[in-house]
Amino acid sequence: MVGSLVATAFWAMLPAYVPNNFAVLAGGGRPIDGGREWNGRRVLGDGKTWRGTAIGTAAGLALALALNALADPVSALVGSSLPTFELRAAFALAFGAMLGDIGASFIKRRSGRERGAAFPGLDQLDFVAGALFAAFVLAPGWALDVFTLPVLAVVVVMTPVLHVTTNVAAYKLGLKNEPW
Ligand code: CTP
Ligand code: MG
Repeated sequence: MVGSLVATAFWAMLPAYVPNNFAVLAGGGRPIDGGREWNGRRVLGDGKTWRGTAIGTAAGLALALALNALADPVSALVGSSLPTFELRAAFALAFGAMLGDIGASFIKRRSGRERGAAFPGLDQLDFVAGALFAAFVLAPGWALDVFTLPVLAVVVVMTPVLHVTTNVAAYKLGLKNEPW
């Protein structure tokens, strides 16, 4: 029962988990805010780029489509029925995750934090909030079906743990400048 909830939560959120990691690998180039400032501080900062956002979104979308092809065999393997992703849901999870992260940078800059500064809590959940919000808006039927309250509870607890682990790993591997 709990195992099946965790499997479903992890599976359903995978298209929202990978965009940020791909953005880190693909980042660089023109910042989304074009270098503009607001009240003496960057609107978003150099850490939010068009390329990172586009490639991150594409990676999440591609992963969702790959998971659709794997849903049956993996469901049989783990013994619970894992969801497939409607196209709108796949896009919402991937792009929503990027938007959540961009929104967090906006908040960080307004609160005086420089690029790369940590904001505990926001850093771990910004992309979850963005992905879920976008999924419930763009694919409400699908989202209500997949993200039941118990699944949402697992997502909220599990995501920060995964986020911290993967970011520390990316930092140790030299892929990220900070371990958050
Ligand atoms: N990145 C990007 N575009 C995005 C998100 C991330 O290009 N939409 C890349 C950037 O190279 C960024 C790196 O991924 O520096 C790490 O992402 P993140 O930790 O989200 O950004 P920070 O540089 O820490 O900036 P911020 O303080 O605004 O979060
Ligand atoms: Mg950061």
